[in-house]
Amino acid sequence: MGEALKGLKRTIMCGELRESHIDSICTVMGWVQRKRNLGGLIFIDLRDRTGILQIVFGEEINKEAFEKADTVKSEYCIAITGKIVRRESANDNLPTGMVELKGESIKILSESETPPIYIKENLDASENIRLKYRYLDLRRPDMQRIYVIRHKAAKAVRDFMDSHGFLEIETPILTKSTPEGARDYLVPSRNYPGMFYALPQSPQLFKQLLMVSGFDRYFQIARCFRDEDLRANRQPEFTQIDLEMSFVEAEDVMDLNEKLVQYIFKTILDVDVKLPMERMPYKIAMEKYGSDKPDLRFGMEIENISEVVANSEFKVFRDALDNGGSVRAIKAENCAGMGRKQIDKLTDFVKTFKAKGLAWIAYKEGEIKSPIAKFLSEDEMKAILNKMNAKVGDLILIVSDAKNKIVLQSLGQLRLHLAKELELLKNNKEFRFVWVTEFPLLSYNEEENRWEAEHHPFTMPMDEDIQYLDSDPGRVRAKAYDMVLNGEELGGGSIRIHVSSLQEKMFEILGFTKEKAWERFGFLLEAFKYGPPPHGGLAFGFDRMVMFLTGTENIKDVVAFPKNQNAFCPLTEAPNVVDEVQLKELGIKTK
Ligand code: AMO
Ligand code: AMP
Repeated sequence: MGEALKGLKRTIMCGELRESHIDSICTVMGWVQRKRNLGGLIFIDLRDRTGILQIVFGEEINKEAFEKADTVKSEYCIAITGKIVRRESANDNLPTGMVELKGESIKILSESETPPIYIKENLDASENIRLKYRYLDLRRPDMQRIYVIRHKAAKAVRDFMDSHGFLEIETPILTKSTPEGARDYLVPSRNYPGMFYALPQSPQLFKQLLMVSGFDRYFQIARCFRDEDLRANRQPEFTQIDLEMSFVEAEDVMDLNEKLVQYIFKTILDVDVKLPMERMPYKIAMEKYGSDKPDLRFGMEIENISEVVANSEFKVFRDALDNGGSVRAIKAENCAGMGRKQIDKLTDFVKTFKAKGLAWIAYKEGEIKSPIAKFLSEDEMKAILNKMNAKVGDLILIVSDAKNKIVLQSLGQLRLHLAKELELLKNNKEFRFVWVTEFPLLSYNEEENRWEAEHHPFTMPMDEDIQYLDSDPGRVRAKAYDMVLNGEELGGGSIRIHVSSLQEKMFEILGFTKEKAWERFGFLLEAFKYGPPPHGGLAFGFDRMVMFLTGTENIKDVVAFPKNQNAFCPLTEAPNVVDEVQLKELGIKTK
């Protein structure tokens, strides 16, 4: 049974006690981490959000309190009053390790059953159990630290945005489908049977409307909902730092956002992010790293060796080159000794990215080993090694294909895979930022035979490329930018189209009829009739940012009540069935 507080007040938090508190009387409240009965003495480690304090009850000091203290078990919630004294043997591992509290009275506020998971750091328990008992999982000090940092990061965002003239404005959760390209979560309407709200994939259209309203600078720490395949860095509902600015160009938006990131990293980690951040056009990122989110913490860049083997008779290279493709390679330094089996595994790896094979050249002392040596002349082999700047001991890995996309993607992924295998980033504490710019405005969907917006349909083309919108849409670059950190997309945004005629042209290219465009986005098109300012913005994945700030690789760690990999919540068991009555009200029958 739990005792009432009856006026008892906590006077200090467990983790705050130091030598300066010696001889003071205090009351602490928290959970029993552990209890030891050593005969005449009982030791309790009491835990609250701030840390752990040792409490000692002596049979001699107060017999009644001693006996009561002996009844407590792990995770009981208790309150203790007593005097702070110097500890006989200090514990250097605890910030409070110089002192202990001599318990004079104890209240058992509530009892606890044996918890299904250990309340300790670095817990090794199944994710399902952790999520089912998330409130216990969140008692663990390493989890609590994450939410302290998350809170501080959100506060840093608000402080920074406020001091730069941004207003925080909330936008609707029950709304109409937004254009971020994932599947929507839908909410049936009772007032309009058969009709649905969509949960926002982002506040995109509303923030643009706020610019039309003249708010000039908007931001929001906004919840977004996307029904998509989940990964280590994706949740179905997640949080963005979302912002929009009027009367700006791309450089203005990037400038402000890198300062925001600099401020956050300084405030939370005391890390100095050097500004301006590096800028890299999309085309270069793809050519050198095979990715629009390059990890620049290590080299191993992709080289185009097509010219070197331009006259080769080797059928594999010939086929690729004659069909508009390329031959490209990366260099794994000091890997010439890699065994056959290992290389076979790398071959299997690139095949998962549709590469048809992987050729290699091992540059060893006094010999060059390669399965393609018999197909190439000695001069060609040497020219490849030369082009790759290879030294004795290096291993060159080559992919060729008629589709450049396959060559670049498979080598880009192989590069990341090797970095992991070779532990190139072990102990690397670097934060390597880069803005990827000049994204293509459109990408061609081969299955559906149509152009799609690479970012979203409101993104402004680059001025010098507008002329190609009709003749060569694939060539048009967008005023879009992504901030990439250590190979992850931290955020992205763009300058928006604010001219109706250009917006209509975009819809035309994207295959929307005028009616269809108005049906979906009519309210925005209508708003643009009334003097919209030039505007642009960006959204960061706030959860992803907190992952970097806390050093975790699992997005679920930074979301207090996350969904599992199947978008299910083991704690509440959502999604779940609802009452027949509720369905009837909504005019819904389930199959
Ligand atoms: P975008 O779709 O690129 O842009 O999203 C911005 C950032 O949000 C994060 N993010 C996610 N984080 C966790 N789980 C997810 N499922 C998830 N999806 C995206 C990423 C990403 O960089 N409205 C535009 C922004 C703009 O143009 O201003 C938008 O939403 O870190
Ligand atoms: P093959 O003639 O198919 O046996 O290939 C000879 C060598 O070329 C083998 O080492 C293959 O791994 C390599 N190879 C095959 N296809 C490709 C490709 N698309 N790109 C690079 N190397 C390849």
